[in-house]
Amino acid sequence: MADSSEKTHEQVQEYYGQRVKSTDQLLTTACTVISGEGSGKVKAAIKNVHPDVLSKYYGCGLVFPEQVEDCRILDLGSGAGRDCFVLSQLVGANGHVTGVDMTQEQLDVANKHIQYHTEKFGYSKSNVDFKKGFIENLSDAGISDSSYDIVISNCVVNLAHDKLSVLKGAYNALKDGGELYFSDVYVDRPVPDELRKNSVLWGECISGALYWKDLVMIAAEVGFAPPVVVSATAISTCGKGAEALLDAVKSDPSISSNPELLKLLGQLSVASVTYRLFKVPKTALTSDSPVQVTYKGTIDGHAEEFKLSYDLSLQKSIPVVLPQSVAEMFTSGRLKQHFDISPTSAESPSTSYKNLDQFNRVNPFEVISTPAPSTGSCCQGSSCCS
Ligand SMILES: C[S@@+](CC[C@H](N)C(=O)[O-])C[C@H]1O[C@@H](n2cnc3c(N)ncnc32)[C@H](O)[C@@H]1O
Repeated sequence: MADSSEKTHEQVQEYYGQRVKSTDQLLTTACTVISGEGSGKVKAAIKNVHPDVLSKYYGCGLVFPEQVEDCRILDLGSGAGRDCFVLSQLVGANGHVTGVDMTQEQLDVANKHIQYHTEKFGYSKSNVDFKKGFIENLSDAGISDSSYDIVISNCVVNLAHDKLSVLKGAYNALKDGGELYFSDVYVDRPVPDELRKNSVLWGECISGALYWKDLVMIAAEVGFAPPVVVSATAISTCGKGAEALLDAVKSDPSISSNPELLKLLGQLSVASVTYRLFKVPKTALTSDSPVQVTYKGTIDGHAEEFKLSYDLSLQKSIPVVLPQSVAEMFTSGRLKQHFDISPTSAESPSTSYKNLDQFNRVNPFEVISTPAPSTGSCCQGSSCCS
């Protein structure tokens, strides 16, 4: 593995193993921007998780896709295990959840609470396990190819140096038709190396964040369908830890002595985004032939409407015409049984899905519904960073 990856691993392990002991010790909300939303079922499942695990939750979004009963789910960078223990309940006794993390302290907390949750959920044996390993090298961590219905990850990919390997690994671990459903931190422009080298900015999930266009490129290179945005929320770095964050920036001469870098840091927009990336048949990726798709209304908790993304929802029993490349996202994996798919006919709706022009609008900064509470960065304005 390249030296830069090893160094990143060491710094991040130190950050999450020793430096940060609980959620309230993080300097910004970048890693924890959304925690309490979700359906009633998800909220109830979160409440069942042991307080020691909850206190070490460092995620930035909700990674609970619909219809997961009986599924096999892999969590990349599972930390203390909050999302794994929530999903353990949602997949049920016949499903399974595996978490992979490289930091022993985090794994210790997760492993210590397996028995507690197995009893709490009324299972005769645990349906969760945690493996130590690097998410850039999942086969070394004992993860077999084509063995998971869903891969999730919550605020971790930004911390990995080699993002291409992470996404390739997720793709390989997925069964055909599976999806990577993950929340992470993104930025609206490329981040220069000098900022990426600062361990506090990296550990706080800011300088390792992917430029959203790079995600689109990497997803295509790996073979995924184009990313679909589920939700996007602006992150302010001017929260409670802004001063400590500024100190970290000011005490780093390679940043503080460079006005261009300070300017860029001040202008950087940061967002927590949940994307879904589907592993659809390669032939479908390029097919724009229209097909008719009708939602049957049978997905648990979604009787009237199924929302694939922030801008594409299907109403029960109302056929829509979609390009095959989009339709495959519903119809090649676990969601298949809930949709009728047929060739278009004279009776098909005359127009394609009304928002299709906008669908595939994968720039999360265009779809943010809630702006950051402040100007967006702790370094906004010259007084702050000069
Ligand atoms: C911000 S925390 C998020 C943890 C967890 N997903 C949660 O929501 O609480 C990042 C976690 O990713 C792990 N991690 C970061 N980079 C990793 C890598 N390259 N391989 C394995 N684990 C990694 C860290 O050890 C840490 O536990």
